[in-house]
Amino acid sequence: MPVWLKNARFYEIYPQSFYDTNGDGIGDFDGIIAKLDYIKQLGFNALWINPCFLSPFMDAGYDVQDYYKVAPRYGTNEDLYRLFDQAHSRGIRVILDLVPGHTSDQCEWFKQSKLPYRNEYSDRYIWSSNAWDRPAGYSWVAGNADRDGCYMLNFFLSQPALNYGFNKITHPEWQISYTDPRVAGTLQAMMDVMRFWLDHGADGFRVDMADSLVKNDDDKSATASLWRKVRAMLDKDYPQTVIVSEWCNAPRSINQAGFHCDFLLDHWTKMVHKAFRNVNEQGVNKSYFCKTAHVSAADMLGDYLVELQQTRGNGYISVISGNHDTDRIARYLDESELRLAYTFLFTLPGVPFFYYGDEIGMRYLPQHSKEGGFQRTGSRTPMQWDSALPNMGFSSAPQDKLYLDVDRSADAPNVADQAADGNSLLNFVRQLNVLRSGCEDLQADAELAVMYCSDDGVLCYRRGNSVAVAFNPTDAERTLPYAADDVLFQTGKATVTGLQTVLAPQTAVVFTLK
Ligand code: GLC
Ligand code: CA
Repeated sequence: MPVWLKNARFYEIYPQSFYDTNGDGIGDFDGIIAKLDYIKQLGFNALWINPCFLSPFMDAGYDVQDYYKVAPRYGTNEDLYRLFDQAHSRGIRVILDLVPGHTSDQCEWFKQSKLPYRNEYSDRYIWSSNAWDRPAGYSWVAGNADRDGCYMLNFFLSQPALNYGFNKITHPEWQISYTDPRVAGTLQAMMDVMRFWLDHGADGFRVDMADSLVKNDDDKSATASLWRKVRAMLDKDYPQTVIVSEWCNAPRSINQAGFHCDFLLDHWTKMVHKAFRNVNEQGVNKSYFCKTAHVSAADMLGDYLVELQQTRGNGYISVISGNHDTDRIARYLDESELRLAYTFLFTLPGVPFFYYGDEIGMRYLPQHSKEGGFQRTGSRTPMQWDSALPNMGFSSAPQDKLYLDVDRSADAPNVADQAADGNSLLNFVRQLNVLRSGCEDLQADAELAVMYCSDDGVLCYRRGNSVAVAFNPTDAERTLPYAADDVLFQTGKATVTGLQTVLAPQTAVVFTLK
């Protein structure tokens, strides 16, 4: 297990929208380099960059055309290597996004696979036995190649599924077992891609749709067995690099597949959803951190504590503030609520991931789809650096040349204003980074034990042996049956009377245990 993960705090960058240095309206690697000092000052020590490889961008780069070449819109491979160096010299690790389940239909591998004669890539994708054969239960494209067969999709129309084989074989005429040498080349190719970027300075990968490699794999055991091979390669040759899965099933991802971290995503039964984005069918906000929701903390935690226990010692659960697929958290929580939500995020075990712009409370901006974003587009708008500069300081390009328009509302949050205000949300996030990085018991490994949890919303948990964290997210006063005297950090107000602590509305407090 790479030791640096113990105190890692990740910042996710959607590169299109972070910072444009050459005035073409789209973010670039030089833009990320230019903002490394900002990220460091904010307190993060690791970055995840969304896919930045050559792509027709039918799914914002999750449709990779060439795994070995970056997209010219961001710069050159050399620029990315320089980004690694510049980040490392500031103590910041960088992970890339690996998309192993599918490529773009413009990928050279796929062009070869479409040919009507056998070649090295014929089995690299999943093809049915002839152009009329579209077995139910899968998503196919027919009539788009000279090869006599239909090809399987993994996501959008432009994303044919790579072939890692099948676990349960239901159609022997075209399904190949995942143990068959004919499909071994796919995993080998992906491991070569990983080696290439690790050799050039990447610190690991966030892995897209990590659970979906092998098909007809209900218990995911075959997919897990492939990831075990990847993990073995990393343990042997790259022991300080990490793989983080988009799986959202920590026991499977961490215990079975061998991922170092697994994202806890915004799935409706999961804690991240119930805590931050839980709006019911009547449109009422029932998120735990919404002050009027008054929901029980036990319900919000759900199976998180169980999964934490099950994976303890093997890997980390990664709680997210949001990501490029999720509505902005500020769509559901106001600024005072965000402070409590972020205190929660930064005081949980595991490895936290923070989405760019959430430090200033960037808003979800509904708009037309861009590059396969659809409703996700509203969470992918340009970073708001400075309201005194054109396009909020994101780019000097004319407005109609911007990748996406910036938030032009008069009260749009921005970095310059918040950096200058000691009480801003941005500075609050910075303080949380400082708090966590200075206290081992708040970091990845320290145990979490619930000390108090009430139906009216109060939650208090111990981390390690030395600290406890208590929340009253509601708009009413609450009492905690513990004396929180040695306060390390607080938002709101905690007043100790005897053995109890009165938590004013919307209070979070981190205190030392005696
Ligand atoms: C993942 C990505 C998402 C992408 C999809 C297909 O869910 O996070 O953005 O569209 O996979 O690659
Ligand atoms: Ca640019």
